[in-house]
Amino acid sequence: MKFLGTGSALPKKVVSNDDLAQVMDTSDEWIRSRTGIGMRHIAVEETTTSMAVEAAEKALADAKISGCEIDLIIVGTISPDYIFPSLACEVQAAIGAKSATAFDLSAGCSGFLFALATADAYFRTGRYKHALVIGAETLSKMMNWADRSTCVLFGDGAGAAVVSAEGSQLLSMVQGSDGAGGMALHCENRPVNNLYRQLGAQHYAFTQMDGREVYKFAVRTVPKAVSEALEQAELPIEDVKYFLLHQANIRIIESVAKRLHQPMEKFPCNLQKCGNVSAASVPILLDNVHKHGMISGGDKIVLAGFGAGLTWGACAVKW
Ligand code: ACO
Repeated sequence: MKFLGTGSALPKKVVSNDDLAQVMDTSDEWIRSRTGIGMRHIAVEETTTSMAVEAAEKALADAKISGCEIDLIIVGTISPDYIFPSLACEVQAAIGAKSATAFDLSAGCSGFLFALATADAYFRTGRYKHALVIGAETLSKMMNWADRSTCVLFGDGAGAAVVSAEGSQLLSMVQGSDGAGGMALHCENRPVNNLYRQLGAQHYAFTQMDGREVYKFAVRTVPKAVSEALEQAELPIEDVKYFLLHQANIRIIESVAKRLHQPMEKFPCNLQKCGNVSAASVPILLDNVHKHGMISGGDKIVLAGFGAGLTWGACAVKW
């Protein structure tokens, strides 16, 4: 696998912690000290599709290839605009990737890593040559805005990467799931409600989280997954320039850095500005790091995601 280009898209509206404190019982101090988040982008005009398409178009421009050369599109998302068709099929239509196979996958905040792993597995069969791998979310529509313990954490956005089957930049890939812990972070879909089982008044379901359980899961699992990815790649940890972790919470990132005995300077963060963008967080961060010229040919980086499922994924990349 070779990375040919990256792109990202964020909604125009920026909402600071102080903005939230004006409409709910919270404070900049509480949010910042517990999570590291200072602001987030919230969709008003944008949709999950519009942001995914914008990120995809930027990644294609960066890769200098056209949509018709893409033969595989995989989107990691838990907040598509439609239950069906898939968001990936909408992106396909928008970019004119007429010969592509397109589908979504659901792996919470590990969505981008799972999509990348799936593209890599397909590449190994020789079936596809150029894939568009995307993470895109509008989590703001899945929040209970009366639940201050969850709604302050999340933001909206999308990130994308164009990858090719040629090259050997992907040095390793680790994935895992633990369905037994799934209820720690969940959102119900429509309940059974039909001619034979009538529920009466319907309501939208919202994201529910046991923050402490998720915290324990993350600090236990991520260092292990990163270590496995490094071992598989036969890459000494000292040789890694940056660790690009899912941006859930600065305290999780600090704990992972400590457990890996690595300085925080090796963990670029954008959660101060973007909040937790679930499957979009790793590709947005990758795009930030790439576009700011922080990585160049030959640099070794690690990408890692973790979240609903429970799921996790980590890989080592030689840029
Ligand atoms: N503003 C002010 N007070 C708040 C807020 C808020 N936004 N939210 C909760 N509180 C209050 C609670 O009501 C509670 O008050 P009480 O003691 O009077 O009852 C107090 O703060 C502590 O609440 P907790 O929920 O116990 O807060 P905790 O210290 O556990 O921090 C947090 C919550 C930051 C979510 C923490 O559990 C955490 O870091 N979890 C990690 C998981 C995470 O980051 N999840 C993000 C998404 S998951 C993912 O991406 C994989």
